[in-house]
Amino acid sequence: MSAFRTLDQVEVAGRRVLVRLDLNVPMKDGRVTDATRIERAAPTVKELADKGAKVVVVSHYGRPKGKPDPTMSLKPLVDPLSAAVGRPVAFAEDCIGPAAAGAVGGLADGGVALLENLRFHAGEESNDPGFAAALAELCDLYVSDAFSAAHRAHASIDGVARLRPAYAGRLMQTELDALGRALESPTRPVAAVVGGAKVSTKLDLLGNLVERVDVLAIGGGMANTFLFAQGVEIGASLAERDLADTARAILQKAEAKGCDVLLAIDAVIADKLAPGVATTVVGVDAVPSGAMILDVGPATVAAMSERLATCRTLVWNGPLGAFETAPFDAGTNAVAKAAAELTDQGRLLTVAGGGDTVAALAHAGVLERFSYVSTAGGAFLEWLEGKDLPGVAVLKL
Ligand code: 3PG
Ligand code: MG
Repeated sequence: MSAFRTLDQVEVAGRRVLVRLDLNVPMKDGRVTDATRIERAAPTVKELADKGAKVVVVSHYGRPKGKPDPTMSLKPLVDPLSAAVGRPVAFAEDCIGPAAAGAVGGLADGGVALLENLRFHAGEESNDPGFAAALAELCDLYVSDAFSAAHRAHASIDGVARLRPAYAGRLMQTELDALGRALESPTRPVAAVVGGAKVSTKLDLLGNLVERVDVLAIGGGMANTFLFAQGVEIGASLAERDLADTARAILQKAEAKGCDVLLAIDAVIADKLAPGVATTVVGVDAVPSGAMILDVGPATVAAMSERLATCRTLVWNGPLGAFETAPFDAGTNAVAKAAAELTDQGRLLTVAGGGDTVAALAHAGVLERFSYVSTAGGAFLEWLEGKDLPGVAVLKL
């Protein structure tokens, strides 16, 4: 599946290597609150430095819209990055021009520098050739470890990769390998669990998945739209009733492609979405008009879990219920635990990612037990939609 160059195919000693990371990590009051992306990218930086490269790390942070914005500086990431790679990290106040050239010129072999936020320049997002050339001037080789930003055809992801020999870093390699095993060449049967609030944001994703997977379990608010489309009374539940035709078309396509769609057979309902509110479990054919469906019920959990036990591969995106508000996390927790159990037993390859997914699986306590959890949000979704990601395409030989 490695149709792209990796670090195994390049001599880096003494060479300046521009490494595109995604350091767009959650921060609060100048402190990193989740260092997962930094930790996952660290092995590539370490390997390059250990091999004697001069490592020049670049990343975007936030959406500063092409102008410097001190609240989106990468400077607070110097220490966390340094801790993760186990060596000092120099910082340049700009990612191109004299400040950047000075920092790169000052690197010894094995040294690491972090350059300021790429998006402080409008040329980054517009993939401006001049900006890409300015980045290319700083390096002899280019390495991308930013799968989670690979859906952006920006200068540091696309433009510069065309101007220098380009390689996938270890994190990129791992992500592409896991994703390939999940959907491109999976061991069948392959299942997908897709949840989340709105079907409107996942139409392309569902359209692609029904062509590729054998079983598709749908949960979350978006499942209500499907139930409604099938004529089920969903009461006051969150749903996009105007998308009933679209939902029916997806179900028809699934049937034509031999994809089995699993929807809720029972539901946890309440009068409103609030912590600790009184709940009832009802069959989906017995939802009172004023009630809201807020989670899948135990019979649905059992049916979905049993079905997963017959599968060999699982792709997971999105929660099955309103998991941020207990007790409506129970369905997601239970099905996630069943998937983790099957993974532990070596019976199921489990790959997850995108949006709320990591939070939901972390909440279920199964993050470490899944085979692979992607660091990507939007990029994972676009990959599930079957789109060619520019940051992956540019690395292909
Ligand atoms: C992400 O966090 O999803 C990536 O870093 C991409 O960020 P963006 O959505 O601002 O392009
Ligand atoms: Mg995003």
